[in-house]
Amino acid sequence: MPRHVAIIMDGNGRWATARSLPRAAGHRQGAQAVRRTVTAACELGVGTLTLYAFSSDNWKRPRAEVTALMMLFRRYLVQEIEECRREGVRLSVIGRRDRLPADLIPLIESAESTTMAGNRLHLRLAVDYSSRDAILAAAVHARTREEMTAALGPDVDLLIRTAGEQRLSDYLLWECAYAEFCFTDQLWPDFNRGSLEAAIADFQGRERRFGAVPAA
Ligand code: FPP
Repeated sequence: MPRHVAIIMDGNGRWATARSLPRAAGHRQGAQAVRRTVTAACELGVGTLTLYAFSSDNWKRPRAEVTALMMLFRRYLVQEIEECRREGVRLSVIGRRDRLPADLIPLIESAESTTMAGNRLHLRLAVDYSSRDAILAAAVHARTREEMTAALGPDVDLLIRTAGEQRLSDYLLWECAYAEFCFTDQLWPDFNRGSLEAAIADFQGRERRFGAVPAA
């Protein structure tokens, strides 16, 4: 079982456009897929799940779309926290906080403290996140690989990206040094437990050598 699964949740906009709906409707369905995936990850025994919810480059999107996404984060932090606590999910938010709407900060802090004791799954939501910026910030104090890992988080075992794109988009660049990549054409709002199981089965069929020669 991969201990750390990271997901680039892509395709919300295309899901909505294919149905002649506004992009925000795709993000709303995407939030449902987040709920399903967190529950599935918990049940399957994934240790850490890091979801790319909003990249630092996503500020370039139309203001109405950014507002809709912030509203969904707000709602998630309010509505899902009790369920997270019950399921043993510890929630953390990674990324910059100084550019987020001010009212999100106490919600994030409260969600993090309420779920602090969760030890079944560590759910990390990347919001206003840039891996390059995270690496630059960590490198101010960290001088060894171990210190970098302590500052950034655990190495990723399995990186999933939906919606057919095959790029990292400034996500977990250090942590993905030896990640296995799984790309699927499925759009994020359609992602479900079966999709996660399929990606994990794919991962389990890979031979991870970390630069060494195959075992004799
Ligand atoms: C990429 O799809 C998705 C995002 C930029 C936002 C991800 C947000 C969610 C899944 C919803 C809310 C999340 C939480 C944690 C409650 P895109 O808009 O780039 O899709 P496209 O490439 O088809 O246009």
